[in-house]
Amino acid sequence: MIGKKALITGGSFGIGEALAKKFAQNGIDTVLVARNGEKLELVKKEIESSTKSRSYVYRADLITADLQKLYHDITSEHSIDILVNNAGFGTIGPFYKLDTKGEVNMVELNVRVPVELTSYFLKDWIKNGVKGTIINIASLAAFLPIPYFSTYAATKSFLLSFSEAIRREVEDFGIKVITICPGGIKTEFQKRAGVPDNIYTMQNYMDVNTAVDLMWKAINKGKSPYIPGTNNKIYGFLASLVPKGFIAKLGKIFMKRYFATG
Ligand SMILES: NC(=O)c1ccc[n+]([C@@H]2O[C@H](COP(=O)([O-])OP(=O)(O)OC[C@H]3O[C@@H](n4cnc5c(N)ncnc54)[C@H](OP(=O)(O)O)[C@@H]3O)[C@@H](O)[C@H]2O)c1
Repeated sequence: MIGKKALITGGSFGIGEALAKKFAQNGIDTVLVARNGEKLELVKKEIESSTKSRSYVYRADLITADLQKLYHDITSEHSIDILVNNAGFGTIGPFYKLDTKGEVNMVELNVRVPVELTSYFLKDWIKNGVKGTIINIASLAAFLPIPYFSTYAATKSFLLSFSEAIRREVEDFGIKVITICPGGIKTEFQKRAGVPDNIYTMQNYMDVNTAVDLMWKAINKGKSPYIPGTNNKIYGFLASLVPKGFIAKLGKIFMKRYFATG
């Protein structure tokens, strides 16, 4: 992977930030895109002061940005051979109470943005014979319909299905597509999703660097879909065996206790 360059959406915090640092430690330059310019600069500074890798930052709100222009701006300056579709968020609560615009924006960021970027990259990579890698950060939630986390789980189901199908379409061109389906990881995600601190302790959540170490190994082995952590693997396996209607019924019992008041 040494000498490669990765575009990571949502590289300012959480999984994206940790992946950028992991890539940099392994000789991969990074191009990071997110809204928080100050935090992006900080991540870039940390990377460049602790590794020999370079990092470049683009401040953009991926929901409102002209993605095609952003794609051209980035690829005219950088030869990208790894795309990480990571930027995303979730909202918790009864769907009918959640802000409509917020739910639509989630679909935009979690679904439309990875589809659009994947399309731009694949067209160019295939035309130019680039044997690139696309890494899509889905979720364990992709395997289940989750009441009170409905839109989020559905966006991740889309991403898992899309990503695994595209993987098979482009493998003959030497292009790899890897879907990562993490369970709970300690990041900004929970706060941003509106998970109340007093209800949801983060004790069972995986440390972000531990999760990214596992993801890094899976990426190198080309494993997909990849679920970090043994318990999460078991949940994912069971969820794929049980009918969706039954899973949603069980999910309601658990989630309603905590999140039904929204
Ligand atoms: N943490 C978990 O438990 C968990 C589990 C499974 C899957 N995931 C998935 O992992 C991915 C990363 O989440 P995380 O846990 O690292 O959450 P996070 O700490 O909240 O980071 C989210 C990243 O996305 C960026 N982002 C959010 N909205 C954006 C927008 N409109 N335009 C551009 N960038 C935007 C954020 O940067 P700015 O705020 O600077 O824009 C930030 O860098 C998400 O797709 C999430 O669904 C997380």
